[in-house]
Formats: sequence, structure tokens, C-alpha cells
Amino acid sequence: MQTPWDHRYAERTKRMKSSAIRELLKLTEQPDVISFAGGLPSPDVFPVKEIEAACVKVLREQGAQALQYGSTEGYLPLREMITRHTIRYNLPVTSDNILITSGSQQALDLLGKILLNHGDRVVVESPTYMGALQAWNAYGAEYVSVRCDENGMITDELEEALRTGPKFIYILPNFQNPTGSTLATERRMKLVELADKYGVPIIEDDPYGQLRFEGEHLPSVVKLDGILHGDGDACYRGNVIYLSTFSKILSPGLRLAWVIAPPEVIRKLALAKQGADLHTATFNQVVAYEVGHGGFIDQHVKTICSVYKERRDVMLDALDEFMPEGVNWSHPKGGLFLWATLPEKISTETMFQKAVDQKVAYVPGGSFHPNGGGDNTMRLNFSYACPERIIEGISRLGMVIRQELNI
Ligand SMILES: Cc1ncc(COP(=O)(O)O)c(C=O)c1O
Repeated sequence: MQTPWDHRYAERTKRMKSSAIRELLKLTEQPDVISFAGGLPSPDVFPVKEIEAACVKVLREQGAQALQYGSTEGYLPLREMITRHTIRYNLPVTSDNILITSGSQQALDLLGKILLNHGDRVVVESPTYMGALQAWNAYGAEYVSVRCDENGMITDELEEALRTGPKFIYILPNFQNPTGSTLATERRMKLVELADKYGVPIIEDDPYGQLRFEGEHLPSVVKLDGILHGDGDACYRGNVIYLSTFSKILSPGLRLAWVIAPPEVIRKLALAKQGADLHTATFNQVVAYEVGHGGFIDQHVKTICSVYKERRDVMLDALDEFMPEGVNWSHPKGGLFLWATLPEKISTETMFQKAVDQKVAYVPGGSFHPNGGGDNTMRLNFSYACPERIIEGISRLGMVIRQELNI
């Protein structure tokens, strides 16, 4: 329907279309639908009591400061807490390397704002995180996709993508959204070397790295880059912009995340952020610091991991039990998602309505592929539904797929 507003909108809004998928996903909000579609953490692991206690303490002891405007870079004690956390992983940083943002989603948008001109190319994994594409579409990004397998981006195919002269590489090395795959260490090293060789920066988006259920943590891309560029300086000045968030380790409703980058990039991002929201909510930052500074988050991450590991295992067992032959899925060692590949003749987008009719939902995989493909794939979230609903939901999904295959 035409409205008088249509001719008033800026050119860039033409690239800000709501995807068909987002419209479809609205159907999954009915309470009787078992949804594996959202990327939601489990509300069962929100530290409500700890946050309540912190709110009371903050208001009593530093109410005036916590309710006041703050600096754009973020609440200094919180930035220092993140600095200490990062140094633990052997990446030398100072608080000049840290910017607090209103969710990593804001960081993605600000990065688009400071780095992308219309028509600039971005190298992405295919599939990749839809929210990044949504942020960068508005700035006119074009995508050069590199295929992935169970060990993440196939870095042997990266060099060809780098020859197209991209502005940056966007990578999700740990328990990737959407596939759940983790980038192998050799590939991390190759990525850093190639990025250095071609002079292309890397954006490392890492919301899930802490949520490892088994195996050893792999070195972050920013750390490997720090080794390559390190000159003994306590301040990171390399080629990677690293993002992480409190969304999956405390609560997404706090809208708190952080960027690690060379100080000059932090300064530029802070300028962009000033224009967006002046600063991230002071109160939320002070509360997160109050909750986190005594080591609570480390403990809490263990609780989250044990709940999600159980749910992942329940989903893997249910897939074994209910999926027909020809359906394959990933076995992530952490995070929130796994990725299923169906026989090629099935379009998961076409099948979606039938699944919702059977009261189960997923995200069709095509929407994570910026340049097409993945029509027979789907993302399944295992963190949100409780074990009983996971079993019931996968059983319903198995039935829908069998019907689609006429078996
Ligand atoms: C890969 C990735 N990046 C960024 C975000 C946004 O996170 P935040 O809640 O910090 O905005 C998400 C959220 O699910 C994500 O999966």
C-alpha cells in the first residue's frame, strides 16, 4: 500500500527490506509452536537474583552516578573489567582498546557507518549472521562469500575473495551463527596471514566463544593477529576488530557488548556512537560491573554451559531418533545452534508453513546466504526450549520432513 511517506524516505531505506523470513518467523510466536527458530538464550539461566541485588546496591550506593549521562566509550570500571578478562586470554589490551556498545548489533552498525561506502565489498562466510547483513545492507555493502564446512570458513578459498579488494572480512570463529561450526586453528592462522598479506582488516564476531561445552578454547583471531603484529606494546594495534557481548553470558535485555580494536578505531567508533545514542545506558553498565567484577560471570558461564550441553545432547539424540535417512546435521561443541542439511529436493522455505501447521519452527537456511544457496538447509536453536519440548519438536519436524519426502 502506498502512503504519502513513500517518496520521503532516504535512498538507503530501499535496502532495508524486512526479509520474507522475518515475516515468516512472526508465525512462530504463537505459544503452541515449539520454536527452534529464535536465537534466544534460555530464560532459565538469567541471573535474576544477582541482577536484582546489584540494582539495589547500585541505586543505594551510587544512584546519582548510575542515573547520570556517561562517557561514550563506556563506564571505565566495566572497560577495565573487560581488559582484565581479555588479558587472561593472553591478548595485551588496555582500556583504550575497549568501547562499550548497546549490543554487538550496534557495533556492527557503527562499523558499517565508519568503514563502508556504497558498493564496498565485504568478505563473509556463507552462511553467515543475518543481522550483520541487515546492518550493512543499509550502507550499500556487496558481499563476497566464502564457503564453509564443519571446520568453518574454507580458507583455501579466501585468497580469491581477497583479490576482489574487499573493505574487510567478517568472521564468526566460535560456534558460528547459524551453523554451530568452529574455525580450526590452522585456518585461523591462515586467515590472519592472508588478511595481513592483502592489507584487509578482519571483524571477528564472538558472542558464543565462552559457551564451550567440551574441548579446549582455540586462540581468538585477534590474539593470533596480536602475535603477528605484537611489538611488546601493552596496547593492541593490529588488524582485527573483535566483538563480544554480555547477551549470551548474562542477559540480552541489558543490551551490553564490547568492541576491542586499535585505539584510533575506538576513537572513530566513539564519534559514530555519539551520533547514534551518546553512550550505552549507564545504569546497565554499572549493574553489569557490579554483577561481574567479583568473578560471578565465570561461575555463571559454567551453569549456562551445563544447561545448554544437556539441551544440545537431547536435540542430537532426538535427531538420531526421528530424522529420516538423507538428513544430516552438525555436532557443535558449544553455542546455541546446530545446522541441518536435508535432501536437495526439499526447500526448507517452502516447507516452513507446513512445519508451522504442525506447530514446530526453524529458520530456513537460504536467508543466511547473502548470494543464494542453502535452500535445503535449516538452523535449529537448542538453547531456548526445555528438553521435553526439544524431543517433541524434533519428532514433529521429522514427521514434516517425511511427508515432504513422501515416506
Ligand atoms: C553472530 C552474532 N553477532 C551479533 C549478535 C548480536 O548480539 P547482541 O545481543 O550483543 O546485540 C548476535 C545475536 O544473536 C549474533 O549471533
